[in-house]
Amino acid sequence: MSHEIAFGIDVGGSGIKGAPVDLLTGELTEPRFKIRTPQPSTPQAVVDVIAELIAHFGLGPDIPVGLSFPAPIVGGRVEWMANLDQSWVGVNLADAVRAGTGRNVTVVNDADAAGYAEAAFGAAKGHQGTVAVMTLGTGIGVALITGGRLWPNAELGHLVIDGRDAERWTAASAKDRLGLSYAQWAKRLQRYFTEVDHLLWPDLFVVGGGISRKHEKFLPLLDLRPPIVPAMLRNGAGIAGAAALAGLQA
Ligand code: BGC
Repeated sequence: MSHEIAFGIDVGGSGIKGAPVDLLTGELTEPRFKIRTPQPSTPQAVVDVIAELIAHFGLGPDIPVGLSFPAPIVGGRVEWMANLDQSWVGVNLADAVRAGTGRNVTVVNDADAAGYAEAAFGAAKGHQGTVAVMTLGTGIGVALITGGRLWPNAELGHLVIDGRDAERWTAASAKDRLGLSYAQWAKRLQRYFTEVDHLLWPDLFVVGGGISRKHEKFLPLLDLRPPIVPAMLRNGAGIAGAAALAGLQA
């Protein structure tokens, strides 16, 4: 069955957001609804919020649901966890959501969802080369797309630079936590993106995450070999990508 609409949910370190998505355009067909990420962000607490989001939109049983999640996901299972409760490690996310909501959901790493959406609808649409979509938020997410195909679970936010996990030092949350100016933060981004460039040699960097709304404050400060552009779907990309992947699999 082919669908015109699917529902996307994006689980993040500070909020869990959902909205229906037009699968032809990637646009949200209703404003997204956001609920704060529960603390502690245990599997049960997060699945309860997911169920609440689905109930809020009164989704019919046939609407495919996709879930974007901030961890490497292999065969539906959370393999490792940086920014939500550690009790997620080893949990089968797809099974946990099915148990809590009665629905089958398509689960995907959040950066991969964003990368998929940017490739299908946004800043990387039609690009035939290698694109690195980098999301700057609580953590750093990376999606690698080459020739239109995605390499899943590229955890390059955790590249170790000068003995430190790059994400702790360079994510948008580090800017907030340390009170950095855009100029100070851009120095860290310059170092990080240069390292990634020298490992992957992408043809294009696309920068997403909530802070990409303010891209004019920091992207012009970066001097990198490949072009670097803001994501077009901003932080709606996780929702759109998860919904699009769910639509494909339904
Ligand atoms: C996680 C990734 C995730 C990224 C963005 C990282 O800490 O390990 O899986 O994509 O944050 O949320």
